[in-house]
Amino acid sequence: NPAQAWSGRFNEPVAELVKRYTASVEFDRRLAECDIQGSLAHALMLNAVGILNADDLSAIQRGMAQILAEVRNDQFVWSLDAEDVHLNIEKRLTSLVGDAGKRLHTARSRNDQVATDVRLWLRAEIDALVALVKNLQGALLDLAEQHADTVMPGFTHLQVAQPVAFGHHLMAYYEMLKRDGERLQDCRKRVNRLPLGAAALAGTSYPIDREMVARELGFDGVCENSLDAVSDRDFAIEFTASAALVMTHLSRLSEELILWMSPRFGFIDIADRFCTGSSIMPQKKNPDVPELVRGKTGRINGHLVALLTLMKSQPLAYNKDNQEDKEPLFDTVDTLNATLRIYADMIGGITVNKDAMRQAAFQGYATATDLADYLVKKGLPFRDAHEAVARAVRHAESRKCDLSELPLDELRQFSPLIEADIFAVLTLEGSLNSRNHIGGTAPEQVRKAIHKARQALGK
Ligand code: ARG
Repeated sequence: NPAQAWSGRFNEPVAELVKRYTASVEFDRRLAECDIQGSLAHALMLNAVGILNADDLSAIQRGMAQILAEVRNDQFVWSLDAEDVHLNIEKRLTSLVGDAGKRLHTARSRNDQVATDVRLWLRAEIDALVALVKNLQGALLDLAEQHADTVMPGFTHLQVAQPVAFGHHLMAYYEMLKRDGERLQDCRKRVNRLPLGAAALAGTSYPIDREMVARELGFDGVCENSLDAVSDRDFAIEFTASAALVMTHLSRLSEELILWMSPRFGFIDIADRFCTGSSIMPQKKNPDVPELVRGKTGRINGHLVALLTLMKSQPLAYNKDNQEDKEPLFDTVDTLNATLRIYADMIGGITVNKDAMRQAAFQGYATATDLADYLVKKGLPFRDAHEAVARAVRHAESRKCDLSELPLDELRQFSPLIEADIFAVLTLEGSLNSRNHIGGTAPEQVRKAIHKARQALGK
């Protein structure tokens, strides 16, 4: 009984160090259920086309049912000697049902087997992630709805720019996540193709029925070229790129939450259960969760680069390099899954200090553009209006007050076109309400956007 399924052609056993270096079972055992599922579909097809008799098929089904139970109950004994998940399961199957187990690998290679397993696994994970993205979008909608007319300063260059509704700001992230969800779903289409039947690289001489296996496993179709089927991991790269974008969006929001929670901003507070203290400074409450999300984004970006680099120089077809696809891919899924879960809860645990937001908007001359627009509507060319308002801001700055706090006669020094109706324009609400078109920050538009989003989400 040779140690390895392939050791027949070797004169000496593989070195212990090499065995450990090349084995993947410690991480790819995670694919066990998909491996069994794929094998059962393969066996069913082998029987249907007359390669495997009915007794062997039922022996395989019986053995696999037991193995599945052992895996689920954590009773399966994984062995490094058997190298990877595929050979571990095959070995156990053969020990349980004898020769039928040895026949399972007819018309198949581990090369098309592993590609199939990873695709099956990733497909299910994508479905779970898409649901979690939607769940987070729902949490953002709930908070946005409460703040459709909460005024905050909108920033460019992190300098106060124009007033925006806090709900509008949150809805920007809703939009990003909407595209992220679409990207994941689109990527799923390319994941959901069956490699089995490609065998090692060139196809197989047996009269297999690939379409049947594809149907059996819920794939949308088969990979059309055997060399491509076993060798490319572009679907994993594409997924990781989509994951990196989700993380990038959440990292941006995290950066904002961290800033907003700083006492210098004081815009929000994050519920205690998402924060930690300091072992030395008794007063501290730190936004660890958003900080870690920001940090873990670097980790996912790293996985993306790892996978791209893994692929870039591989000649056709399968190379063992591809075994290295799993850890980055698994960790990307795990990290994104946990991040999305925690994030939705954390958004629900945010409290908003409307006064601080309003105060900050009021202090930054956020309505200066509104004054310029007012002058333009009275016939002044925009560049002249810009100049007049800039001088007014300088004046207000020296008086240490807001534009709206200057008396009318002082304002009129900068343009005689300014009249008493200017004060409605210079309020934060006036500024917000005037941006009343699709995509604008007027509370009416924000509410419309939220309504539309709720319908799209079904929430
Ligand atoms: N553990 C391998 C992987 O993850 C399975 C395929 C191995 N195929 C081979 N010819 N050595 O890619």
